[in-house]
Amino acid sequence: MYITKLTFKNFMGYKQLSLPKGTKEFPKGLILVCGKNSYGKSTIFEGIVFAFFGPKIFKGRNAASFITYGESKAELTIFFTLDNKKYNIFRRWGRTGATTTKLFEWDKTTYREIKNFNIEKFFEISSEQALSTVFVRQGEVEELANKKGADLREMIIDLFRLDIIDDALNFLDVESKKRKFSKENLERNKVPIERIEEDINRITLENANFEKIVKEKKKKEEEYGKKIKNYPSDELITNLEKLYSQKNIVNDKFLSNKKDFEEKIKSTELKIDDFKHVKKIVDKIEDTLKEKKKLTQIKELIEKRREATIRGLGKTKGKIEDSKRKIKKMEDSLKFTTREGGLESAQCPTCQNELTKEHFDEMILEFNTDLKINNEKVKSITKIIDNFDVKINSCQNKLEKINESVIRIQGLKDDFENYQKYEAELRKVQEELDGFLTKYQSKFADTKPEKIKLLSIEKEKLYIESKAITLEIKEKQNNIKNNIDRIVDLRNEIKHMKKLEKEIGEFEIDIDHISKAKEFVRRFVTEYMVVKRLVKNIASTTNKYIKDFTSGQYSDLTIDLFGTKKTGLSLKIMDNFNGVPESIEVLSGGDKTALGMALRLAISELMSKIRPTKESPKKNPKIDILLLDEPLAALDETRRERILKHLVKSKTFSQIFLITHTAIPSDFNTHKIIVNKDHSTGISTARFEGETSQILY
Ligand SMILES: Nc1ncnc2c1ncn2[C@@H]1O[C@H](COP(=O)(O)OP(=O)(O)O)[C@@H](O)[C@H]1O
Ligand SMILES: [Mg+2]
Repeated sequence: MYITKLTFKNFMGYKQLSLPKGTKEFPKGLILVCGKNSYGKSTIFEGIVFAFFGPKIFKGRNAASFITYGESKAELTIFFTLDNKKYNIFRRWGRTGATTTKLFEWDKTTYREIKNFNIEKFFEISSEQALSTVFVRQGEVEELANKKGADLREMIIDLFRLDIIDDALNFLDVESKKRKFSKENLERNKVPIERIEEDINRITLENANFEKIVKEKKKKEEEYGKKIKNYPSDELITNLEKLYSQKNIVNDKFLSNKKDFEEKIKSTELKIDDFKHVKKIVDKIEDTLKEKKKLTQIKELIEKRREATIRGLGKTKGKIEDSKRKIKKMEDSLKFTTREGGLESAQCPTCQNELTKEHFDEMILEFNTDLKINNEKVKSITKIIDNFDVKINSCQNKLEKINESVIRIQGLKDDFENYQKYEAELRKVQEELDGFLTKYQSKFADTKPEKIKLLSIEKEKLYIESKAITLEIKEKQNNIKNNIDRIVDLRNEIKHMKKLEKEIGEFEIDIDHISKAKEFVRRFVTEYMVVKRLVKNIASTTNKYIKDFTSGQYSDLTIDLFGTKKTGLSLKIMDNFNGVPESIEVLSGGDKTALGMALRLAISELMSKIRPTKESPKKNPKIDILLLDEPLAALDETRRERILKHLVKSKTFSQIFLITHTAIPSDFNTHKIIVNKDHSTGISTARFEGETSQILY
């Protein structure tokens, strides 16, 4: 890569700068930037850096401070060629903060913008790396030679992107942590196999015990079965029980009826034997009923007579009343008067005939005689009636007695028939029972009713016990089955644990490998990478320059690493005058600068050649130019010349801009940018002068 042209507008001291003028372009190789102090040399350097990497690369300075005093905005354009392609980068920014950055690529006839570019990606170099290699700022060369070993080591590590190693270590750390985490997770789930085996043994023992119990219980179950078989069937037992209970019920009824009957018969003239032939009783009832009929007829007859007699009594009483009325009427209505003759007479109210007192008295007497007779009659009739009443009452009493007797005998007959019925029923039940017993006697040990009741209870008890045993057997068998399942599970768990242990082991191996890998990577960085390879390379590349730059006084730079970040690198150099290696601290300022320059060139050169690790960018940094700001200031003329000559010859970099304010030997013919400044306006100007002729060294 090399820069072909640059234009600045309002960039610090430059109001308008265009180098080279017109259609000319910068050549490859060394270009000196010459001019007096503060004329604007470094400004050119800064303009190029700004154009490429922007203001952020200048720590502690803001973009606005680069704009020419009094102006509001500035512009930079750098034209360059990279891999035979032409580009230009353009930046414009103002004091207000507005910025434009554009990258263009030449496409046959015109520049086309590359959108969304990233300059670090484009150049494949970070701005920091660029600052440490491509752009060597004022004072940095001396600084490098004076750098402490540790800083130098850090710088090398940074420059050569050995921080990739840190990434690798971090990656390994993460991997290791991941595995440790996984391993811990597995360990958390781990159960000691011995413990599982103990469980298996315990369960196996338990099962053996269960099996023993099952065996015993089965034997018992069988015994119970046999026992139950020896018992009569439930049906037989219930049937027999039913018969017994039927017999009891019928017997009770029979007895109570019999007792009632016997009780009742006591109050009669009858004997139990009388009932043996029911005909007798029936006859008796019939006789009694006949008697009743007869008696009823007699009673009715007497009653009829009594009625007639009462009627007679009534008539007689009527006659008496009649006589009494007649007497009273006559006595009340007859008025007797004494007639001539002294005869007393009265007129008959009925016939109007003359009634004498004598006649009247005769009539009264007659009436009174009738009264008397009739009264006598009433008395005798009343006696007859009373007599009838007595007879009727006696009949009535007899009838009632007969009725009672009939009812009683009838009741007794019913009772008798009842108890006879129950007796027959009892006989029937007894027969049934006897029949049952003759048939099934052999099935029963004892057929006594109380034994039968016990039998069914015993049998029920046996059933319950047998059932309990069966249940227990089932339960134990279930336990055994569950235990077997559990053992299978536990065996699987052992398998699982073995797998787990294997996995844990694998993780342990992995973790071990990773930690070894980390160790190896660390050693690789400290020993191999830095000491053996890189450092050796830096030393040997530096050596190429150092002898030349110090007129042969120094050579054989050795860079030692004492291993740690603290001690860093220790630089020693062979003093060819006295033949001993010297620590670089004892070198003169000029020699230190020369060594610094050599180191700087070596590092920059290596940067473009070495791929320290596989992960380093495949392509070398695309910027293979070098901008050196005043690297020669502290050198004497001879050394300056040697370095310049070397740079002119150098093919390591495609283009080198070297800023110097010191006089360059007039015979030193090379490309130059000559910087000037108008002191009255403070405006810098510059022009490009190509070499005048080929110089031969
Ligand atoms: N923003 C600015 N506008 C105008 N001139 C500036 C600005 N910033 C710095 N300068 C001038 O630029 C000069 C510094 O130029 P510089 O390139 O460092 O000189 P040298 O040639 O010594 O390297 C100073 O004289 C300073 O006054
Ligand atoms: Mg300067």
